[in-house]
Parts: sequence; C-alpha cells; structure tokens
Amino acid sequence: MAFNLKGRSLLTLKDFSKEEIEFILQISHEVKKERRSGKITQRFLGKTLAMIFEKRSTRTRSAFETAFAEEGGHPSFMSTDDIQLGAKETIEDTARVLGRMFDAIEFRGFKQETVEKLAEYSGVPVYNGLTDKFHPTQVLADLMTVQENFGSLKGLKFVYCGDGRNNMANSLMIGCSKMGMKFVIVAPKSLWPEESLVNECKSFAEVSGGNVLITDDIDEGVVGADVVYTDVWASMGEESKRAERIKLLTPYQVNDELMEKTGNRDVIFMHCLPAVRGEEVTASVIDGLHSRVWDEAENRKHTIKAIMIATLL
Ligand code: CP
Ligand code: NVA
Repeated sequence: MAFNLKGRSLLTLKDFSKEEIEFILQISHEVKKERRSGKITQRFLGKTLAMIFEKRSTRTRSAFETAFAEEGGHPSFMSTDDIQLGAKETIEDTARVLGRMFDAIEFRGFKQETVEKLAEYSGVPVYNGLTDKFHPTQVLADLMTVQENFGSLKGLKFVYCGDGRNNMANSLMIGCSKMGMKFVIVAPKSLWPEESLVNECKSFAEVSGGNVLITDDIDEGVVGADVVYTDVWASMGEESKRAERIKLLTPYQVNDELMEKTGNRDVIFMHCLPAVRGEEVTASVIDGLHSRVWDEAENRKHTIKAIMIATLL
C-alpha cells in the first residue's frame, strides 16, 4: 500500500505508524534491487540536501551522500567546525536560512532538541542521523535486514544486549514494538531505559501484538532469540565512562557462549557499527557465520534513499 509522506521529517520512529514503516521498507527493498541491477534513476535531480554533523560518522554520512548524489541530487556536508550553528548563530536562525536554500536537512549531533528545532524552523523535511537519544535511520536498516533474513518481522524475538539506555536501545525498542516483535533489553539495572519510554513502547506493542521486556537476566533474556543485537558500551560523547562501563557490562558481552544460550541455530547477530571487538562483541561472533553486520551497513543506504524518496517526491 502507498502512503503520502511528502514533507514529513524523521526525528524518531514514534511519529510513524506500522504501516508507514512497512511502506518505507518496501521502497527500500525496491531501490536495493534497482541498485543491484545497475538501473540509473535521477529522482533527486535539481534537489539539494544539507548534511550537518556535530559527531563523527562513516555509514550515515556515506549513506546520505551516496544515496542523494546517485539520484542526481547535490548533498552538502557541513561539520559544526565550519558552520555557525549553535556557536555564533541560534539553531532557529540557521534552520530558517537552510530551509530557504535546501530541499532537506540531515542532522547528526548531541541534543534531540536541536534536530527538533531544525524541523520546526526550516520548513523542509529533516532527518535525524543520530542524537544522544535516538537513531531512527539505523533502525530502518535493521528492520530491513531482519526482513531479508526471516521474510517478515511479526512475532520474531529481538534481543538487545548491553547499554540499555543509549540511542540504539531506545530506537530499537520503538521500532520493534511498533512492528509486532518480541523485544527484549538485557542490561544491568543501572543501564535500563527511561520508564516513560518503556511504557510508551509497551503501548505500541499492545496495538501491534508484540511485547517489550527489560531484564538483567541473560539466560531469560536471550533464550529463543531470533536476533541478538549489541552496540558500543560508551557512545559518542560518553568516552569518559568507558572504564566504568567495561566493568559493568563485561558479563553482557555477546560471545559464543551467549549466542549458544539462545538455543536457536538460525539466530542472527546484528550491530549498528562501529564495533569494538573484545568489548561488546567478540571477533568470533561479529566475524562468524551468524553475523549480518555488512548487509546491515549496506542497508543504511537503501533505507535512507527510501525515506528521502517517500518524503521529498
Ligand atoms: N551506524 C552508524 O550510524 O555508523 P556511523 O557512526 O559510521 O554513521
Ligand atoms: N550508540 C552509538 C551508536 C553509533 C552509531 C553512539 O551513539 O556512539
């Protein structure tokens, strides 16, 4: 089914219905096939995209830049070392100016509030390329990768293990609960997500037929998992917490023993990357047979292209 998403921003997946997410995923599979077949399309010809980065990026930057450029558009990369945003100029003023010159804006940075203000004041679609709180474009790629492996999403058990309160844990909880999956966070209590967000996701799950479980019990959490997912223990901006996190999270490392505890031979391993081998995941798992991390990374591009097609054309 087709939906009209023209003009919409992607700040968090909370704002999108299950059906709208399914529609974006459907476009993602189509553009992946097109790319594989070598078909050239110029859907963004004459369009411009501002890409603002306060934090580093390999995948997100590359995905936006290549997806936009290969469709004939002009992406413009701006690090906050170069532009006035937040330093010499308010976010509102930068947003107003960029909205006069660009067709869309991507933002990666610290505060969720910044990406929300950019959307409010620019008047053009704004895409959240990661904030401290959410990373919605990553979740689209993750859902696409799960669909490629299992054919569907509903009813699958998706287990996130590690820092249960970072941008990935929050966003996966939103995406999986919306799509009718059995979503579990396995983390020590001090790293559990905010209760208000958990309750919000439980209400999404009630509608979709999924469920949400937060536990510190590894055995209970991972048994029967179809997907085991992890992310770095110290996210960008939290580097000073690394030693403390290693202590706290070492029992939650995704290693061969934890993968065996799922009891599922067909379980897949996923990670948004970049990964720190030997911390949140062992090399044997991320480089092993169950790992789908390179498909997942490639799918960033197809899903990002899809969200731009859905909201710009
Ligand atoms: N997964 C992800 O967002 O990667 P980058 O930090 O390289 O963009
Ligand atoms: N939680 C990680 C995700 C990186 C894609 C971070 O914010 O650094």
